[in-house]
Amino acid sequence: MSMILIDGKIVSNSILSRIKEETKSLKANRRIVPGLALLLVGDNPASKVYVNSKKKACEELGFYSVVEHLPNDISESKVLEYIDKWNNDDRIHGILVQLPLPKHINELKVTLKILPSKDVDGFHPENFGRLVIGLPGFRPCTPAGIVELLKYYNIDTSGKHVVVVGRSNIVGKPIANLLYQKAPYANAIVTICHTGGGDIRKYTQQADILIVAIGRPKFITSDFIKEGVVVIDVGINRVEDPKSSKGYKLVGDVDFDSVAPKSYAITPVPGGVGPMTIAMLMYNTFLSASGEIDYSSL
Ligand code: GUN
Repeated sequence: MSMILIDGKIVSNSILSRIKEETKSLKANRRIVPGLALLLVGDNPASKVYVNSKKKACEELGFYSVVEHLPNDISESKVLEYIDKWNNDDRIHGILVQLPLPKHINELKVTLKILPSKDVDGFHPENFGRLVIGLPGFRPCTPAGIVELLKYYNIDTSGKHVVVVGRSNIVGKPIANLLYQKAPYANAIVTICHTGGGDIRKYTQQADILIVAIGRPKFITSDFIKEGVVVIDVGINRVEDPKSSKGYKLVGDVDFDSVAPKSYAITPVPGGVGPMTIAMLMYNTFLSASGEIDYSSL
């Protein structure tokens, strides 16, 4: 049987067009326009690309958006002031601070300043805690996007062994916590491993579904996997490429060429998980605007 190429463009477009329709109804029936505030500090080229794409997605869906691009040497207190302003602005339903931030700004302090009910990235410890104990709340966008990809391609996770490589707060920890919940599209047996574990092949070779988010170009080669695995590659690494006009190309954490032939299904980079992150950010912002997440249970 031939390998399935998991197309994040198709899945994200289908989610985005649904949000676009529902946004029209929200405007017509309740006079609510979803609003997203985006904060970018400094000149990280990848971050600039991401923030631009997020702004474009807002425009495409008919969301209200504001973008603040602040210089690298901006003070932490100024960043906190912007967040405070947006916390108190009824037009803003979601606040996103693009990470990473410059070293002199404390990311946790910034994250804690965002009202949990506007934390559409799902990074606030309250939302993270809600995820862990199975309460409603904003789910981090990339992990939520991975679940949507698996759903779309009818890849059942129940009782399957999911091995997550990477323990970041943005991907590794939340995707593990999403997938072992006793819930539909979850209920997996989850192992988390990471690069501090020496040779991790003894774990990854047992995976039915392998999710990799470590930021190391082409780290996972064919000897890390068993035949018939589903591979979700979250890595987006810029590597030098003299043949490209930009001087670089994007590669994942998985060596696609050697791993794909052994896989049942695999995400490419780019065009796999990447587009899902933005779709789920828009989804979270829509949920926030429509008031569909109940924050009264705490
Ligand atoms: N940097 C890398 N991924 C993300 C993300 O999902 N959200 C934010 N805010 N910053 C990021």
